[in-house]
Amino acid sequence: MRGFDWDEAKIGLARRAGEGLDVRFHAEDARAALARTEAAADTVLLVDVLHYLPHAAQDELLAWAADLVRPGGRLVVREATKGAGWRSLVTVLVERISRLVRFNLGDATAVRDVRRAYVPILEAKGLSCTVTSCWGSTPFANVLLVATRPR
Ligand SMILES: C[S@@+](CC[C@H](N)C(=O)[O-])C[C@H]1O[C@@H](n2cnc3c(N)ncnc32)[C@H](O)[C@@H]1O
Repeated sequence: MRGFDWDEAKIGLARRAGEGLDVRFHAEDARAALARTEAAADTVLLVDVLHYLPHAAQDELLAWAADLVRPGGRLVVREATKGAGWRSLVTVLVERISRLVRFNLGDATAVRDVRRAYVPILEAKGLSCTVTSCWGSTPFANVLLVATRPR
């Protein structure tokens, strides 16, 4: 397992949490990391990262991630979505504040409609997609997109 985040402090926490396990964490821009990764993966996770990038960069990162999924594997994207009413408004507000205070480092707060913006990109890459809400009792507009590559 390999993990990327460009925040050195968070990578430090991940390394401590993963001590003794067969995992590697890298403090690196996810775009650079995925662009030069060639090995196919069973599962690729993009957890709460896309909306920190401008739209064109999101599309590119998503396409790279899809290309890494081997037959029978999957790409799992946990993201905030537009179109979920007041939850979407709360999420954008909290994300703007978290970037402002540098709790989360990002180039943008660009929350999109996950079904409309991401699913067509993944389907064009041959993946079949499901999108389900996963906000539970939280006020956030998070959904889970699971994109599977047929065997
Ligand atoms: C809401 S946090 C999620 C952190 C982690 N993925 C998790 O689920 O706990 C968003 C993270 O995205 C990271 N991030 C934003 N843009 C990035 C980029 N271009 N490359 C790598 N990490 C990025 C931020 O540093 C931040 O830690």
